[in-house]
Amino acid sequence: MEEFIKKNLIKAESFHPYYEKALNEMLLAGGKRFRPKLLLSVVNAYEPLLVENAKYAAFALELIHTYSLIHDDLPSMDNADLRRGHPTLHVTYDEVTALLAGDALNTYAFEVLSKAPFSSDVKVELIKVLAQNAGPAGMVLGQAIDCYYENKKLNLEELKFLHLNKTGKLIAASLKMGALIVNKNDLADRLYDFGLKLGLLFQIQDDLLDLLESEETGKTTGVDENKNTFVTLLGEKETHKEADALAAELENELNVFDEELKNELNKVLSKYLYRHKKQ
Ligand code: IPE
Ligand code: IPE
Ligand code: MG
Ligand code: MG
Ligand code: MG
Repeated sequence: MEEFIKKNLIKAESFHPYYEKALNEMLLAGGKRFRPKLLLSVVNAYEPLLVENAKYAAFALELIHTYSLIHDDLPSMDNADLRRGHPTLHVTYDEVTALLAGDALNTYAFEVLSKAPFSSDVKVELIKVLAQNAGPAGMVLGQAIDCYYENKKLNLEELKFLHLNKTGKLIAASLKMGALIVNKNDLADRLYDFGLKLGLLFQIQDDLLDLLESEETGKTTGVDENKNTFVTLLGEKETHKEADALAAELENELNVFDEELKNELNKVLSKYLYRHKKQ
């Protein structure tokens, strides 16, 4: 995946002193590539020969995700200085650059998808799923609630709605897009539901990371104290319990998938599902 990303970085040459460099900076800074890995695992389980082509879709997901992080770190959102072990774009450059880099990555994701070597039908479906889950009734909605309700308490049901939207839907879309690429429409729906729950677990674990030091996470931590998270709502101990329960449910659900898919997904998910076991 890393090679594919490097080969397909954004090209926008001009006399601007750092615009193009800034657009690619957070992509090159790394990260776990969790969403691309999910999509590619599904494809690899059923059609290994399609993995290379599927990287277009995996990259589109990473572009959307990286844009969401750049905007999430802006002073008007979480106001974070460090991301993926690097200073955030608004710190290195300025707020305008960070804002526009996010815009550019968001748009470029759909350009990349439009160029993917799939049939037009599959491409339109992929574009739809990505837009629906990242957009106004997906990640953006989650971020809107996250920010509006800072300093205002949500109940547990509302908190889950927030997490499902800001994090769950893009993760669910990653799995679903993998299934659509291998033409498994029933599986796409099952994986989507599994992904929503997985996204909830992922965000709960992310909220626990906010309690750690920045050196360990590579991003500014301690900034979510006034946010609605499982940790602020239930406390650390209950949050671990909730995460354990979700992980156990997901482990059971994973076991019902085809053997090959189960094996592929396990490689990406074991760290999250078997939280307390040494890997
Ligand atoms: C962090 O996502 C933001 C959330 C949605 C929880 P990741 O933990 O996947 O961040 P990277 O991609 O590894 O930097
Ligand atoms: C962000 O959640 C989710 C996004 C859609 C970017 P957080 O604000 O908890 O993510 P981090 O901890 O800054 O990565
Ligand atoms: Mg945030
Ligand atoms: Mg944040
Ligand atoms: Mg966080």
